[in-house]
Amino acid sequence: MKNYWVHTLFILCLLSCSKDSIVDSNPTIKDYVPTPLPLKTPTILQQKLITPVIPFTNPQTIEGVSLGKKLFYDPILSGNNKMSCATCHSPASAFANNTVFSVGIDGIEGSRNAMPLFNLAWNFDERFNWDGSELSLERQALTPVSNPLEMHAIWDDVIIKLQQNQDYSKLFNRAFGDNTIITKELTAKAIAQFERTLISANSKFDKYLLDEARLTPQELNGFNVFMDEERGDCFHCHGDNNNPLWTDNIFHNNGLDENFNDLGLGGVNGDPIDYGKFKTPSIRNLAYSAPYMHDGRFKTLEEVINHYSEGLKRSATIDPLMKKVDEGGAGLSDNDKTDLKAFLLTLSDYEFINNPEFNIK
Ligand code: HEC
Ligand code: HEC
Repeated sequence: MKNYWVHTLFILCLLSCSKDSIVDSNPTIKDYVPTPLPLKTPTILQQKLITPVIPFTNPQTIEGVSLGKKLFYDPILSGNNKMSCATCHSPASAFANNTVFSVGIDGIEGSRNAMPLFNLAWNFDERFNWDGSELSLERQALTPVSNPLEMHAIWDDVIIKLQQNQDYSKLFNRAFGDNTIITKELTAKAIAQFERTLISANSKFDKYLLDEARLTPQELNGFNVFMDEERGDCFHCHGDNNNPLWTDNIFHNNGLDENFNDLGLGGVNGDPIDYGKFKTPSIRNLAYSAPYMHDGRFKTLEEVINHYSEGLKRSATIDPLMKKVDEGGAGLSDNDKTDLKAFLLTLSDYEFINNPEFNIK
């Protein structure tokens, strides 16, 4: 009797196993599912136990990221088929560009400096752009395509171009499942997946923290200036060795102007308390991303440091961390200025800008 049951179980198992394998070998019966691709979180980010923000409605997959990368570099998304996201966000410039204001397809300049793109999955409060006007990467990716000052296309036309392109029909099916209908939302989802893979955490300073590189005395003094509340006092907003993002990802007025041409966050929410506040940019990859500030007003790091040292301007919303405003700032010595610059440059990540996974060359 016991044998009988063992035998029956065995047959049942065989039947169910073979049934599975028939289904598996026939993709038309079982729905195709793209391959999950966890973010490659580097040690330095893992050590600080920071979990990336990935919406459950747009999980990372190999096929999604690869489609997103193709779209990011493809001028098909623009009105005249000549401009891609990468025109303004180029890998050599840490996915920004080196012009003050970018010029769109109609030859008209925008009024803000293109932002570098990296570690975007760790932007916890999910407010993007200098003024926080976009609330997710999925939403942000929709706007440059239709913005008249940028790629100036009509989304419906872009979708038709993508649908008529055989490669894209296949790639959207691979990324989002069989018989996918291409939409702007799916296009943006794929781009956002690619953007989340742009991770930078391999600078000299990262290696120093991992005991894999040494800093020069000059760079170490620069770090002390950065951390010293009486001198640079930069770390409250731009992070420190315990914040590998090197930004607080929130909005401040760092004393650039007495009166604002651009209201920044205050222009988005209409609150005078936020006039002239902009998102703190990360100080990673500064070697590649000049010019600096939301309007690209400073060409060099010397100019940036001089601003904080003696160029501060008072206004109603200036951050309390901007001290000695009436003297223009802390008044750093020439040595401290040079050393601070040397430290800032240790956060530039050569491997990031040359990573072939992020590039199409
Ligand atoms: C003509 C130049 C230009 C093009 C083309 C362009 N961008 Fe941008 N990008 C900018 C500028 C300028 C900003 C800052 C916008 C602002 O603050 O209003 C920006 C900001 C961003 C940000 C916000 C980053 C952050 O840290 O908050 C993301 C993400 C981004 N762009 C992705 C894209 C994608 C994706 C595309 C293609 C679909 C694209 N951009 C096309 C110039 C451009
Ligand atoms: C109160 C917060 C705060 C403090 C303190 C602060 N910053 Fe900033 N920093 C910002 C904000 C906000 C911006 C962007 C401002 C804008 O564009 O309008 C910025 C911009 C920058 C930029 C330009 C980066 C880019 O990609 O354009 C650099 C470099 C910089 N800061 C370095 C420093 C240094 C060095 C110190 C210390 C001497 C410092 N910051 C202190 C908030 C701060």
